[in-house]
Amino acid sequence: MESHRQTLKAAPLLSLGRYHVSEEYGFLLPNPLKELPDHYRPWMEIASKLPHLIESHQLRAHVNKMPLLDLQFLNSYREQRLAHLVLSSITMGYVWQEGETQPAEVLPRNLAIPFVEISKNLGLPPILTHVDLVLSNWTKRNPEGPLEISNLETIVSFPGGESLRGFILVTVLVEKVAAPGIKALALAVSALLQLNQDVLLHALQLLRLSIEDVTRALGQMHDYVDPDIFYAVIRIFFSGWKDNPAMSAGLIYEGVSTEPLKYSGGSAAQSSVLHAFDELLGIHHTKESAAFLYRMRDYMPPSHKAFIEEIHSAPSLRDHILSSGHGHCLTAYNQCVEALAELRSYHITVVTKYLITAAAKARSRRPTHLPRPPQALEDIGTGGSAILSFLKSVRDKTLEAILKPSG
Ligand code: HEM
Repeated sequence: MESHRQTLKAAPLLSLGRYHVSEEYGFLLPNPLKELPDHYRPWMEIASKLPHLIESHQLRAHVNKMPLLDLQFLNSYREQRLAHLVLSSITMGYVWQEGETQPAEVLPRNLAIPFVEISKNLGLPPILTHVDLVLSNWTKRNPEGPLEISNLETIVSFPGGESLRGFILVTVLVEKVAAPGIKALALAVSALLQLNQDVLLHALQLLRLSIEDVTRALGQMHDYVDPDIFYAVIRIFFSGWKDNPAMSAGLIYEGVSTEPLKYSGGSAAQSSVLHAFDELLGIHHTKESAAFLYRMRDYMPPSHKAFIEEIHSAPSLRDHILSSGHGHCLTAYNQCVEALAELRSYHITVVTKYLITAAAKARSRRPTHLPRPPQALEDIGTGGSAILSFLKSVRDKTLEAILKPSG
């Protein structure tokens, strides 16, 4: 009787809504706003012309003339998310307008003060994150039409034209196809709590299909993003001021702190999707990789971070499978782990093409119309990791989770 009551109490543990995770859109912000109240027109006018202002080297001058605006006219959560997207994008443009050799060392107070305040309200860091660039930065051209690249547009853009658009929108699609996997994950946790093997098996099968869809969606990068443009033009705007030799001191947020502050740049390592999958499947990374990945959780909305922590504190799926001796569940679990390792291997091939090979090509190329690519970030990711050894270790640790049938 007691255990039955506990089960009932624990069953709704992973209600997605409580953590602001959408059944349809996963971690994406459903239907992000494109406009702020009129009071914020000075921000929106700059944000709407961002690529042009950066490319023509006029952004800093425009930002320096911007009025200092109060946040009191931002009403809804979605308005606050748009404000964070807009101010973080303007910040990246401001810092990197002149390339990596002349980054801005001081963010002016009319930008820094509202940006830090909105960041505090949202529990996000005052820098462009995956939350901004991807989760809040999409809109349908035809609201009734499908969520496909041809019917999608970004809200705020950077230099890089179609490749920039493709990079953001393919990542939006990746998040979207992960949504059924997140639903399946919540179902698996409930099944674990209720010791329902049939539901658990079904949930794991759904999870594997979703992980495979994520891999396929990631493959669309090749159709939409030119590696040379990604490497030479786009990447710098997502770079941060922590573990970045081009800005080793950090950035002074004028009117906020006299000491420079350090934050990592935007990276899909900040996406909650793989963090959630890892927690359910009980995948343990090396101390160093785990430290980086945990740090990236501070770049997620607090409710999404809490969702991942809830999965962590749920009963262990691996222990359950091993102790129940349920062969079908063990097979389904292993298929999820294999699919996740395959996704990570595929991601390594994408990173090799867009960063490693692109860097080698840029080094050997004679001068072209493309800007000289950033040198300081040659071997490190925008999030600040030593790329390939980190990604391989994360993939290999995933594979180590495969369970052997007992007896
Ligand atoms: C051109 C496309 C991409 C490139 C060049 C790229 C590059 C990188 C790099 C350099 C890292 C190392 C961490 C850092 O310092 O930033 C990383 C990590 C990661 N990326 Fe990507 N990425 C791309 C697309 C994606 C997409 C679309 C996703 C899906 C959401 C993704 C998911 C991840 C994850 C989850 C990690 C953390 C490592 C792991 O858990 O396996 N990446 N990526």
